[in-house]
Amino acid sequence: MTHSGRPPVIVLDGPAGAGKSSVAREIAKRLGLPFLDTGAIYRAITLIMMRSGVPPVDSPELRRELKEFRVFFSGASVCVKGEDVTDAIRTPEIDANVSPYSAIPAVRDSLLGIQREQRGNGLVAEGRDMGTVVFPDADLKIFLTASPETRARRRYDERISRGGNADYDEILRQVNMRDEIDSTRETAPLKPAGDALLMDTTVMSFEDVVSGVMKLAGNL
Ligand code: DC
Repeated sequence: MTHSGRPPVIVLDGPAGAGKSSVAREIAKRLGLPFLDTGAIYRAITLIMMRSGVPPVDSPELRRELKEFRVFFSGASVCVKGEDVTDAIRTPEIDANVSPYSAIPAVRDSLLGIQREQRGNGLVAEGRDMGTVVFPDADLKIFLTASPETRARRRYDERISRGGNADYDEILRQVNMRDEIDSTRETAPLKPAGDALLMDTTVMSFEDVVSGVMKLAGNL
């Protein structure tokens, strides 16, 4: 609860692999708040576009898909058109294609409402533009960073622990490429909100990051 007695909106932004998802999920659990992974929404729309053969440029076909797009969260699962796409949105193909689709203003406009609808009664949301565009009035804004090598290593470990194959050098290349596209796009680029608190997690343990954020949340 905030001092004003309502559940808080807490947002975490930052580049790929900074630890946003796992930290935000844990914070949400500890505070009893819903968790919103907005990267999953961008990944889901990328999957739908790729399956429909719609390239990452603004077009009537792309807008048609956007109009029909609905996404549902159930615990840690993501569903689109009645299909559980949780694993399908975390493949190297989606990693390689999600940033170009995310850079299209029509895509971002259309997903804005979907993200804000999840606000309900407080939440913990993570992404790239939570503090700058989607929830600019959030009660607490954190911007997590870490060196590209650390972030690539975390993605590598994550993929291996899910039983998949992984190539560290390829992941590092993708991390750098996505950072570049995400932070230089014109619409809602990846950047800290003016009132965000920066945390560099390169040499911090997961528990240190979580307790740091919990301490900040406790002051709301
Ligand atoms: O956090 P992630 O790796 O699952 O995000 C996948 C991509 O989605 C990321 O490279 C850029 C895009 N994205 C975005 O543009 N805005 C967000 N709020 C979340 C993700």
